[in-house]
Amino acid sequence: MRVFVTGGTGHSGSHIIPELIAAGHEVTGLARSDTAATELSALGAKVRRGDLQDLDGLKEAAADSDGVIHVAHRQDLLPSGGIDAVAAAELPIMLAYGEALAGTGKPLVAAGSIGSPGQLGRPATEDDPALPVGDEHKGTLRARNVVETAVIGLAERGVRSSVVRIANIAHSTTDRAGFLPTLIALAKEKGFAGYPGDGTNLWNAVHVRDGASLFRLALEKGPAGSYWHAVEDGGIPFREIAEAIGSRLGLPAVSVPPDELMLPGYFGFLANVVNQSYPTSSLVTRKTLGWEPAQPSLLADLDNGHYFPSADVPAI
Ligand SMILES: NC(=O)c1ccc[n+]([C@@H]2O[C@H](COP(=O)([O-])OP(=O)(O)OC[C@H]3O[C@@H](n4cnc5c(N)ncnc54)[C@H](OP(=O)(O)O)[C@@H]3O)[C@@H](O)[C@H]2O)c1
Repeated sequence: MRVFVTGGTGHSGSHIIPELIAAGHEVTGLARSDTAATELSALGAKVRRGDLQDLDGLKEAAADSDGVIHVAHRQDLLPSGGIDAVAAAELPIMLAYGEALAGTGKPLVAAGSIGSPGQLGRPATEDDPALPVGDEHKGTLRARNVVETAVIGLAERGVRSSVVRIANIAHSTTDRAGFLPTLIALAKEKGFAGYPGDGTNLWNAVHVRDGASLFRLALEKGPAGSYWHAVEDGGIPFREIAEAIGSRLGLPAVSVPPDELMLPGYFGFLANVVNQSYPTSSLVTRKTLGWEPAQPSLLADLDNGHYFPSADVPAI
């Protein structure tokens, strides 16, 4: 299949491209700079110069392909508008792909997020509609839901559309700016690995290479209008993550009391998400697509040591 991939230089995309090529697909990646073009070529992809803001260019690229995987996102909007603005910028892009692919039956696979199951009282499943991310009570973080729903809605227009909801923690040997590096940097800065309250709230995780294989499977054979969960660890107590980081750094894992979470203290801008619980199932994904995560789980990957260059680890 000739696949158009956006975000190919990013954490997920840089694993998706080799996964596709190894499976025999021909990949064209979107590059907005010479650096990105060089990186995409090194991964074995053809290069299409362009930018997410050029909707006509995206439409052309989609129409020229047999399928689209979209994992780029406008992270430049984060400082001014937060994650809602980043998500909102996705909507016109998805609608542009829709125009290009309507009636073709071609696949469009877009990245999504596992929301907070909140009061569901059970793990989130693929059958759940898009769930809010972050502080639900502010009611501001809904744009992502609209985008996911729009992608799924393209199925009715003859697009084999699906959303791969990526676990809250995506980890790998090439993870430079994800949640784990942030937690590790915080622990080093503060002198302890913090966890919220009693640390029993659950976080989900996936190895990015396993996530890449799920994007490929969704592209190749996912039925139209499906949500998939790129989740290997369905619920790890936050405290265990803090303990794993602390033990590697030779630092204690320490509770940050709930009433201190919102202070400009330990977690900073993460305060409104770290204390939530995100238990998540991926049973439907595994059963329907035959997806079998094969890479290290989160705690095993932390134990592998690559997140901790030797200078970080205290001499014994
Ligand atoms: N745990 C997780 O990581 C997680 C969880 C849920 C959802 N997601 C979602 O998964 C997707 C992929 O995340 P990621 O961590 O792989 O992303 P990332 O590492 O931040 O990479 C972002 C990509 O978007 C590209 N990009 C940004 N602005 C662009 C523009 N204006 N034009 C063209 N390309 C542009 C970047 O290209 P340049 O090289 O040019 O900068 C880069 O390839 C995102 O939508 C993210 O929200 C991730």
